[in-house]
Amino acid sequence: MGEGRFDGRRVLVVGGGANGSDDLSANGAQIALRLAAEGATVAVSDVDLARAEHTVAAIGDDRAVALRSDASSVEDCAALPAAAEDLVGPLDVVVANVGVTGGFPGRTQTVEDWQWVQDVNVRSHWLVAQAALPGMMERGQGSFVFVTSIAGLISSGYSLSYEATKASLIAVSRHFGVRYADRGIRSNAVALGVIDTSMVRGGFGDDPDLRRRRDLMQPLGRQGQPHEAAAAVAFLASDDASFISGQCLVVDGGRTADGRYDARYARAFGPTHE
Ligand SMILES: NC(=O)c1ccc[n+]([C@@H]2O[C@H](COP(=O)([O-])OP(=O)(O)OC[C@H]3O[C@@H](n4cnc5c(N)ncnc54)[C@H](O)[C@@H]3O)[C@@H](O)[C@H]2O)c1
Repeated sequence: MGEGRFDGRRVLVVGGGANGSDDLSANGAQIALRLAAEGATVAVSDVDLARAEHTVAAIGDDRAVALRSDASSVEDCAALPAAAEDLVGPLDVVVANVGVTGGFPGRTQTVEDWQWVQDVNVRSHWLVAQAALPGMMERGQGSFVFVTSIAGLISSGYSLSYEATKASLIAVSRHFGVRYADRGIRSNAVALGVIDTSMVRGGFGDDPDLRRRRDLMQPLGRQGQPHEAAAAVAFLASDDASFISGQCLVVDGGRTADGRYDARYARAFGPTHE
């Protein structure tokens, strides 16, 4: 097991909040918990300070700090790494997790939603990485992990702005991983499939029938859990991935590899195309 992979390391998790210290079912919260469990000191930022504080409370105050930072604000993003470093020291790892879903397919996509989702899901990650980079380059090492989605690889037809930003984020991650590789910087992305977070339950429903339908989207027959997203992030952020950069690791229970969804769904609910 990877216990201690982050001993002495300082990590910033952007968008690392949770609903409550007894409801930690969010990817960012689980990423922060996992990295702390493996030895890291963690700065957790969120637009909602109370959410960041829930994660910090679950980790323990001596190992984590909470910051308020709005990913839709250029100023907040540019200032965030320095604010985190004031509290925890020079950053070794930045996990860019924050993301919002947007709400429109292409026919009704609004400019306002498009711009907001771009600002939060892509611009924020570029700005935070840009601000963290000089210190990492000076120290000759640093690792970025960007949390994207399989919506950047395949379309659900649900939200154009979300799909466009999640595809774009893969390019942002790849750019940092290539351009600064010779300065000791690695950068990778995780493309998550359906993960059973409170955001998904709130946004897409939580009754048993809807949960079962979400389970069936994956060949593994279930949704992912946020701690499974965190395990992939921890791997890429750690020295175990020391020769991996510019990559996008798909964490989706086999969904994007699958051509048999219709058959599985039909067995459970009847034919999908009557
Ligand atoms: N849950 C899934 O099925 C799934 C699938 C693919 C990708 N993802 C990605 O995982 C990441 C986390 O998603 P989640 O499901 O844990 O959702 P979540 O809503 O629980 O987590 C997002 C966090 O970001 C914070 N946040 C929202 N707007 C912010 C802003 N403007 N500034 C700073 N913080 C802000 C929220 O308060 C929350 O704590 C997102 O990037 C999402 O796109 C999730």
